[in-house]
Amino acid sequence: MKACIRETTATVTAVAAAVALAACGPGAGTRSGGESSPNIAVLLPDNTTARWETQDKPLLEKRIKELCADCSVEHVNAGGEVAVQQGQMDSMITKGVDAIVLVAVDARSLAATVTKAHQADIPVIAYDRLAQGPISGYVSYDGVEVGRLQGRALLQAMGDKVPGAQIVMMNGDPIDPNAVAFKEGALSVLRGKVRIGKAYDTVQWRPEAANMNMTAALSSLGPDAVDGVYAANDGLAAGSVSALKANKVAPLPPVTGQDAELGAVRRIVGGDQYMTVLKPFAPEASAGGAMAVAAARGHGLTEVATGEVRTGDGRTVPAVLLTPVSVTVDNIEETVVKDGVHTVQQICVPQLRAACERAGLT
Ligand code: BGC
Repeated sequence: MKACIRETTATVTAVAAAVALAACGPGAGTRSGGESSPNIAVLLPDNTTARWETQDKPLLEKRIKELCADCSVEHVNAGGEVAVQQGQMDSMITKGVDAIVLVAVDARSLAATVTKAHQADIPVIAYDRLAQGPISGYVSYDGVEVGRLQGRALLQAMGDKVPGAQIVMMNGDPIDPNAVAFKEGALSVLRGKVRIGKAYDTVQWRPEAANMNMTAALSSLGPDAVDGVYAANDGLAAGSVSALKANKVAPLPPVTGQDAELGAVRRIVGGDQYMTVLKPFAPEASAGGAMAVAAARGHGLTEVATGEVRTGDGRTVPAVLLTPVSVTVDNIEETVVKDGVHTVQQICVPQLRAACERAGLT
């Protein structure tokens, strides 16, 4: 078996190696030494951000099935509630699943159940968010770089107004370690160049909270005093833009985002949002699915990983860290469309036809 892995990794990329790894591996149920087919649990964090149910879930399932036809996948969503996710972890441990793919609602609070899974010999793959506790592997995008891309784009969009421009920051939920990384990356670019008039952390990444916070910021700073909005993701961008519009702010200041949600891409074409960050879902799900299958079969993850990451407790675990891409109206075609995230037809609804033509989306 080992020889099979080594030959493979010498000639192909790490993620592709996982296919071969899975293909040349022994049959199902080997982690526990039994004969049953592997059962993989996928624990998603919330329903407020479109990506988890519309992109990650189907792509992870597809990838797992590709690599392991007899694997079964069980998916649950915590709806943004830490206690619900702890319960879901407990129930997957009781069921004796063979591996867990976890997008932690709260990285720190979940550490105890990650430890429980580890003690029950169930490997946990931290997907997109670096869960604390004895995880076996990690797959994500470079979150600090996401923040830098957002910060740089905002500076560029504000042009002459920098320095001296005033911005509002709509950060994510700080119990999500990615939110901390996005903010760190953005501040590393923005600090000293703009005035941060107001900054908010957004509980559960809720667009409605961003809407309320933006409304409060406008009444405190004045509707004409906001030169730019740093929104950590597209949901927060949507909430901010609707508050700006409700307060008749015109022209709209540039607003950042993340996730290349369909609504955000349409807002970018129509001029209501300046940018988003595309973190292509397929490669992330591909690596996450490959790690899950390898782990469920009791194989090591280093052959699937392209590097490693240091966890909170100082251990290093095999990891795949991918590179995010900045998207503005000028590169939608060669990013979002080329990547198969949304088609031109989906983006270009009748109201956007003229704007789509101007953007070269036909
Ligand atoms: C993810 C983002 C997502 C956010 C809210 C973050 O951990 O990296 O893509 O927008 O969570 O769900």
